[in-house]
Amino acid sequence: MIRIITLMENRAGGNKGLIAEHGLSFLIEADGKKILFDCGAGENTWKNSRKLNVDMNSADILAFSHSHYDHAAGFLTLAEKGLCADTYIGEGFFEEKYAYREGGYTYLGCGFGETFLKEHSRSVTVNKRSIVLTEHCTLETGFPRTCSFEQVPSRFVKWDGKEMCRDLFEDEQCLVIDLGQELAVIAGCSHPGILNMLKEISRRQKKQVTVVLGGTHLAEAEEERMEQTIGEMKRMGIRKIGMNHCSGTAAEERISRDPDISYIRLSVGSCIFL
Ligand SMILES: [Fe+2]
Repeated sequence: MIRIITLMENRAGGNKGLIAEHGLSFLIEADGKKILFDCGAGENTWKNSRKLNVDMNSADILAFSHSHYDHAAGFLTLAEKGLCADTYIGEGFFEEKYAYREGGYTYLGCGFGETFLKEHSRSVTVNKRSIVLTEHCTLETGFPRTCSFEQVPSRFVKWDGKEMCRDLFEDEQCLVIDLGQELAVIAGCSHPGILNMLKEISRRQKKQVTVVLGGTHLAEAEEERMEQTIGEMKRMGIRKIGMNHCSGTAAEERISRDPDISYIRLSVGSCIFL
């Protein structure tokens, strides 16, 4: 049995003692290991873990979906509290990330550098494509962009030392769980496009993805793109979706009404058993 606990998410759930804030963090217990996938934005991920009776310092593996603050900056507190795991990042994780809006740039990065990460990790590995973490869990990155309507918004940029350039999130990682005949995918923010990621994972692992959990970045999608995305997910064989974080309430409401999809609300404190 695999257990997936939502440690941090934008919305509160049934446990009113937990704190909800913009960000994402999951703890996955699989194959006798504890895998922390993302850390949320700040100290509240650690506070939630205490109330969820999760010992973060016993996490074996830490994987970051990408280095935006809402997924990675919570590591600053977790490291201070004693977390020291085998850590996995995508290539380009330490590039300086910004958003451009109304004539100005906002820093969106994780708030720490390579030295800090190495000081507070047992090991740091840069994933360039696929890494097997446990018998049933794999980290995937490097997603080709095959879907024409999934474009990264131009406001996401990075500083390359000389100038600002578009950030296409080549470093984004997904956690893939092998369920036997099929796959479950846990996504952080899906900046490369949720369909681009799911199709590539299915192609690489030669199995159908049937479960999708996490952030799908449909919050800004127009209705047409949302319908195209949901239609394609259904054609691919996806039958269970637990969206949260950047997925957007419109997409979540639409999916919750879909007769062909089993919808799970993934708020703070939600536990899923696969
Ligand atoms: Fe995010």
